[in-house]
Amino acid sequence: MSAARATMRLVLLGPPGAGKGTQAKALEDRFGVPQISTGDILRANVAAGTPLGVKAKAFMESGKLVTDDVIVGMMEQELVGKHSFLLDGFPRTVAQAVALDDLLGRLGLPLTGVLLFEAERTTLVARLAGRWTNPRNGRSYHAAFNPPKVAGIDDEDGGPLVQRLDDMADVIEKRLETYERETAPLIGYYGSREMFVRIDALAPIDVVAESVDRALAGNEAAR
Ligand code: AP5
Repeated sequence: MSAARATMRLVLLGPPGAGKGTQAKALEDRFGVPQISTGDILRANVAAGTPLGVKAKAFMESGKLVTDDVIVGMMEQELVGKHSFLLDGFPRTVAQAVALDDLLGRLGLPLTGVLLFEAERTTLVARLAGRWTNPRNGRSYHAAFNPPKVAGIDDEDGGPLVQRLDDMADVIEKRLETYERETAPLIGYYGSREMFVRIDALAPIDVVAESVDRALAGNEAAR
């Protein structure tokens, strides 16, 4: 696969902690295609106290989804004018997926792939409980599985890492329940499309990245 790939419009799907953000950042670094993380956008709005952040805060802190109308409106603004993108954390409900298909249909920019990152619950909980995040750019580390060079410091910008409030044990449980109830139905929504690929997300980060590359090469060959 060439690093000069011009077109990549991907949905990265999977439960909290599956590694969507980690792989999105790796793809962004390798191919220059922008990651659009709804979670990062919402957290920036919460931190800045914008009207969107005020609406989103309580949902996020309790492990629930922010309402579809708020998310779809936000993403319509984000996607206009972008030809390639990595959607990390969106869509998250069937209503959001229908709205995305509708928007991309109007823009004449169909998805080129949907990657489902699969991992079991015990691993997801361990990953989220040990995660450290750079709130300035959304980059994540893990205390044991993917540690920064210096504990608590981002390798890239040298600033402090933090633990997300929704990575507390009780909220992790709620987020996993929310995923099963509201987001897992998207596997049925996208599952019969040719560009839908399941990725074994239990493997180490670099092995998952290789699976992603193979999936993208396969999708490209099929187009
Ligand atoms: P969001 O920020 O999207 O959180 P999430 O989907 O729960 O996903 P995470 O960021 O927790 O996990 P990830 O899969 O990206 O894993 P990561 O790569 O960090 O959403 C937060 C909240 O915002 C939601 O709860 C909701 O309230 C709201 N929201 C967002 N989008 C919304 C939408 N569309 N609609 C409504 N509400 C929305 O990896 C996790 C850890 O594991 C890291 O420490 C990492 O270093 C490590 N790791 C990653 N891969 C591996 C590996 N292969 N092996 C070992 N360790 C690994």
